[in-house]
Amino acid sequence: MLKHLLSMDEVSIDDIISILKLSEDFENKIIRQVFNYACDKILATLFYEPSTRTRLSFESAMIRSGGSIIGFSDSKVSSVSKGETISDTIRTVANYCDIIVMRHSIEGAARVASEVSSVPIINAGDGANQHPSQTLLDLYTLKNIFGSINAFGGHTIGFVGDLKYSRTVHSLIPALINMNEKTFILISPQELCLDQSFVDRYRKDGVILRETSSIKHINDCDIIYVTRIQQERFPDQTEYEKVKNVYRITADMLKPGLKVLHPLPRVNEISTCVDKTDHAEYFNQVRNGVFVRQAIIHKILGEE
Ligand code: CP
Repeated sequence: MLKHLLSMDEVSIDDIISILKLSEDFENKIIRQVFNYACDKILATLFYEPSTRTRLSFESAMIRSGGSIIGFSDSKVSSVSKGETISDTIRTVANYCDIIVMRHSIEGAARVASEVSSVPIINAGDGANQHPSQTLLDLYTLKNIFGSINAFGGHTIGFVGDLKYSRTVHSLIPALINMNEKTFILISPQELCLDQSFVDRYRKDGVILRETSSIKHINDCDIIYVTRIQQERFPDQTEYEKVKNVYRITADMLKPGLKVLHPLPRVNEISTCVDKTDHAEYFNQVRNGVFVRQAIIHKILGEE
């Protein structure tokens, strides 16, 4: 049972497998008739940072599961603009709902919220730190590509782009390691490489990590997970200008069978010419987001 969903470091393999199986039941519309776990329940979405997919798919998941939603998508229209702290906002909103989904630019914000909240907190992204519900939908998409939950392990998975600030990467790599994937190729400009402390920790655990800045190594992979160069995370905009167009993946660069994932939004790192090919998995990720978030809500509210 999950109390909060803050970090993939705290989600056991058993919980991952259970959420992926539940997601499948939601996709196949098996579960809706069986459980009424969300009826009379309210989900609040508190988004201090912009979002399209995460906020709307959580809201869609709650409504499709029979529940209701409240919240804000811009903290400027809440009392945050008057100087209210995260803790006071959470203590307040927890009276109005049964579960809170929260995104914030500050690393650790969701954990702070969980320490004062009387209802479960789902971290919908805290700065460059973690984005666990994205990771669970990424794993679900990979499960569909591989054919079964038991087929994880033995793949070479490439991460491309911003590996320094990407919370989706920081969540997904340890989850894949837990799922028995041990070989990764990290493709990024030097300025945006994965923090050395992560690299050292994973290598110590026997994980093979190859680091390169050359995009040609995408074809050494079975899967590539591409990320946006995130302008909003750069303290110095001149540094962003130097790397903003560093990679652009086009369909003719991809070997047959190579699958391309991306959490979205993209800017120009994947050409739209890839969209209509068998390589593109990113819109499947978007679709899977609703089933997986229904499963997450069920796992938290349905097993209270
Ligand atoms: N993948 C993702 O987090 O997208 P949004 O920023 O649109 O929520």
